[in-house]
Amino acid sequence: MQEAGLIILSYILGSIPFSYLFSRLWGGVDIRKRGSGNVGATNVLRTLGLKVALPAFIGDFLKGVLAAFLGLKWGGEVLASACAMAAVIGHCYPIFLGFRGGKGVATAGGAVLFLMPDVLGLLALVFVGVIFMFRYVSLGSITAALVLPVLAYFMGKPQSFMVLSMVLAVLVIYKHRENIERLLSGKEPKIGEKA
Ligand code: G3P
Repeated sequence: MQEAGLIILSYILGSIPFSYLFSRLWGGVDIRKRGSGNVGATNVLRTLGLKVALPAFIGDFLKGVLAAFLGLKWGGEVLASACAMAAVIGHCYPIFLGFRGGKGVATAGGAVLFLMPDVLGLLALVFVGVIFMFRYVSLGSITAALVLPVLAYFMGKPQSFMVLSMVLAVLVIYKHRENIERLLSGKEPKIGEKA
C-alpha cells in the first residue's frame, strides 16, 4: 500500500496553493477575487507582478518535480506517472481551497521536466513561442498541452508516460475552457494586461 500512500501524498502536495499563499502573504490579496480569478502564476503576475508571480510559479512547478521524483524513486515509471497526475489534480482541485484551484500548467511542467526533460525542452519552446507571437499565456498553455502527447509519442516515451501526457493534456485544456471562450470572443487579456 506504499503506492497508494505516495499517490495520496502527491495529491496533498499538489494541493498546496502557492499562488494563493504568496499572494496573501506578500500582496495581501485573495488571488481568487482578482484578475481571472485563477489560482495560478499568470494571474499573480497580472495582479501583483513578477516578484510574487515568480516564487508562485517556482512553488507550483516544484510540486510536480517532487511528486514525479517520489514516484520514480519508490516505484518506477508507472508510479511516477500516477504521482505526477495526482499532484496536477491536487493543484487543479486542491483539498485546501474547497477543490477550486489552478489550471495545472506549472505543476504539469515540473513533472514533465523531471520525467521527460527532452520533451519539456521542446514544449517550453512552443509555449514561449506562442506567447511571444500572440501575447496570450493561455494560448501558449493550450498549445503546449495539445503538443505534449504528440511529442511524447514521437520521442518514443514509455506507455505510462504516454498515458500521463494524454491525461495532463485533457485536464489542462479542460481547465482552460473559460479562456477558450474568451479567446474566441476576443476578450482574453494579453500578457501584461488587466483581466
Ligand atoms: O497557466 C494558466 C494560464 O494559461 C492562464 O491563466 O489567469 O490567464 O486564466 P489565466
